[in-house]
Amino acid sequence: MKWLALILVMVVRIIPAPQSVEERGGSFRYNPSKVEYRLDPKANIPAEGYTLDISRTRVRAVASTPAGLFYAAKTLEQLNVNGQVQCAKITDYPRYSWRGFHVDPCRHFQSVEDLKTMIDIMAQYKINTMHWHLTDDQGWRIEIKKYPRLTSVGAWRTEWDGGVHGGYYTQDEIREVVAYAAERFITIVPEIEMPGHAVAAIRAYPELSCTEEPVGSFSTWGSPDIVLCPGKENMFRFLDDVIAEVSALFPGDYIHIGGDECKKTRWEKCPACQARIKAEGLTATADATAEERLQSYAVKRMEGILAKYGKKLIGWDEILEGGLSPNAAVMSWRGEKGGIAAAEQGHEVVMTPSHDGMYLDHYQGDPKIEPETISGDNTLEKVYNYNPSIPVKGVQANLWSEYIYSESQRQYMFFPRAFALAEIAWTLPANKDFKAFCTAVDRACEDLDRRGVNYHIPMPEQPGGSYNHVVFLDKAVLEFTTTRPMRMVYTLDGTEPSAQSATYEKPLEYSSDATLKIACVTSYGKLGKVRTISVEKQALKPATELETDPGITLRSTYGFFLSWADIPSSAHWTDPRPIKSFRDIPRQEPTHYNMMGLNFYAAEATGYIKVPEDGVYVFSTIFDQLWIDGEKLIDNGSEVKKHSRHDNSVALMKGYHPVTVRFLSNVRGGWTTARNRGEVLFRKVN
Ligand code: ACM
Ligand code: ZN
Repeated sequence: MKWLALILVMVVRIIPAPQSVEERGGSFRYNPSKVEYRLDPKANIPAEGYTLDISRTRVRAVASTPAGLFYAAKTLEQLNVNGQVQCAKITDYPRYSWRGFHVDPCRHFQSVEDLKTMIDIMAQYKINTMHWHLTDDQGWRIEIKKYPRLTSVGAWRTEWDGGVHGGYYTQDEIREVVAYAAERFITIVPEIEMPGHAVAAIRAYPELSCTEEPVGSFSTWGSPDIVLCPGKENMFRFLDDVIAEVSALFPGDYIHIGGDECKKTRWEKCPACQARIKAEGLTATADATAEERLQSYAVKRMEGILAKYGKKLIGWDEILEGGLSPNAAVMSWRGEKGGIAAAEQGHEVVMTPSHDGMYLDHYQGDPKIEPETISGDNTLEKVYNYNPSIPVKGVQANLWSEYIYSESQRQYMFFPRAFALAEIAWTLPANKDFKAFCTAVDRACEDLDRRGVNYHIPMPEQPGGSYNHVVFLDKAVLEFTTTRPMRMVYTLDGTEPSAQSATYEKPLEYSSDATLKIACVTSYGKLGKVRTISVEKQALKPATELETDPGITLRSTYGFFLSWADIPSSAHWTDPRPIKSFRDIPRQEPTHYNMMGLNFYAAEATGYIKVPEDGVYVFSTIFDQLWIDGEKLIDNGSEVKKHSRHDNSVALMKGYHPVTVRFLSNVRGGWTTARNRGEVLFRKVN
C-alpha cells in the first residue's frame, strides 16, 4: 500500500476539490489545442458537472452543459503545474446549484474594473452567482432612468470628516458587468432593498416615506427608522417602475428585495400605514404584530410586481415575519433558523448564516491586531467547516462594506475565505479536508499575487488577545498561534524578518528587555504583516494610599473633534462633575438610533482603579486615551473606534492607581462613538 500513498500525494489539490479523482501514471504535456471539449446534452452528467479524461497524449472533457465544459477547463488550468498535467480520470459536479458571493457597493463604492476582477477570480473557482446589493441607506448605486434623483442625490453622501463619498453604475455599465459575468457562467442577482434600508431613495424622493420629511446625508451605519411607507400606493408604483428597469437589465430568474432590519416604529404612527392595516385586515396575531403583517403584505405585493416582469423573489429571512410570500425564496442570514422554517414550508433556501462563517465582513483573526471590522469571528477554518444542516438550494458568503475603506481592504477580507466558500458550495463534505485545502489555498494566493490582488495572511497571535508591549517582572513567556497552519519566523536584533529567519517552534522566553519581530511566512516565501513586540522588564508601580475610593469626576466641552489635539485651548470646559462609572462617559448627551442630530463633545474623566494583587495587567479600552499613574498607556489615535486595538500592559502594585480617560464623541469611518460601551478592562497576565 505504500506506493499507492506515494502516488496519491502527487495529485494536485485544486479548489474546489472534485468529487472523484482517479490518479493514473504519467503526465500530459499541457497544450490547449490537444484538449478535446465535447458538449453532449444527453450525457449522464449533472448540470454544471463534467468528466475529464487526462492521458499522456490527450485530454477529453465531456459535459452536458456549456457551464460544465467551462468548469472542466478551469480544473485543467489548476492542474497544470509547470506545463505538466498529472494523468487522471476526474468526475465532478457541484453540491449546490446556488454558489453565491455578495458584494455591497452601497456603504463603500466598488468600481466596475474592481468588480470584474472579483468576478473573474470567483469564476475560476466555480462560483456561479453574484448577489449585487445595489441600494441601501448610504447610497443608491444603479441608474434608474425614470427617477434620476436616485443617483443624482441618492448616490452621494457627505461624510463626517467633510469628504464626499459615492458613485453609481450606469445602465450601460450594469449591462457590461452582467455580460462579463455571464461569459464566466455567473448569474447576477440584483438587490433592491425595501421597505427598510432605503434612506438613499427617501433622500431623493421624500414622498416615499411615512412623514415625507426631507432627509439629509446619511453617513453612519445601522438601521434607521426612516423607511418606505407601504401605506402609500405611490410607493408601490415607484417600486414597480424601478423593477421594470431592473428586470430588463438582469436576465437571471431572481431579484432580491431585501426585507431585512426594517424598523417599523413610524408605521405605528402613520395614518396611511394604519389605514392599510385596517383595509387589508392585517390585525396582530399571536406571532406577528400588525406592522409585521404590513411588511409581509408589502413583500407579497413585490412578489406580484416581480412576477409581472418574469422574476422570482428572494429576500432576507425577515420576510418570514408576518407570513411568507407564496413563492418566495429565503436567504437565511440570522443563523439557519429562518432557512429551516422556510424549507419546512416548502420554499427554496440559500444559507448565509452570519456567525457560521458566511459573513466575510467579520473578523478572520484576532480583533486586537486585525483591521477594524463590524464584529465576529469567521476564521478561514470556520468558513471552511460550515455545512448546512438541511438540504438547500445553496450557500453564499456576504461581504458588507461598512468598515471597508479601500479596494485593497475589500480583497483582504474576501480572500482567501472566498476560496473556502467555493469549496463548501461545490464539494461534498466527504471530499473536504482542511489541511489539504490549505495547501491549495497557497497556490490560489500565489495566483492572486500574479493578479496584483490583496489577501489575508495570518499574523502571529497571542492566545487571550494580542498586544505589542509585553511587560514582565521576572520572566516573559510569549506564545503565538495562527488561524491556519503557517510557519512563523522572527528576529530579536531589530532587523526585519525574512523567510530565512529563525522559525518559531515553541514559546519564547525572556528575562531581559528585547524587541521581537515576528511574522507568518507562506509556503511560497511571502511574509505577512510583521508584528513588532517590545518586551520590557518593569518594577511594580506603587499604589496610592486611599481610605475609600473618591469616585470618578468628568469635565466636558462641546464640539466635533477627531483628535484630542484638535480641541482649541480656548474651549470652554464644564466644571468637574461626579459620574458613577466609566460607562457613563459616552452617555453624556441623548442619542437616537438613527444617530442624527447628536451633540458631539470631548470628555475627560479622572478616578482610580483598584487592582486586586501585585502583578502585570493588560489593559483594554475603546476610549481615545487611557492614562494610568500619570502615564499614557493606550492611545487609540486616529482609528475607527469600534473595537479596542491597542491593548497594553503595565506592572502595578496591589491597591489604587489614578486613571484618566479621554473620550471624543464623534463619527469616524461611519462609526458613532456614542454607541461605545465605554469600559476600561484589565486582566492579570504575570
Ligand atoms: C443583513 O445582514 N442585514 C442581511
Ligand atoms: Zn406609512
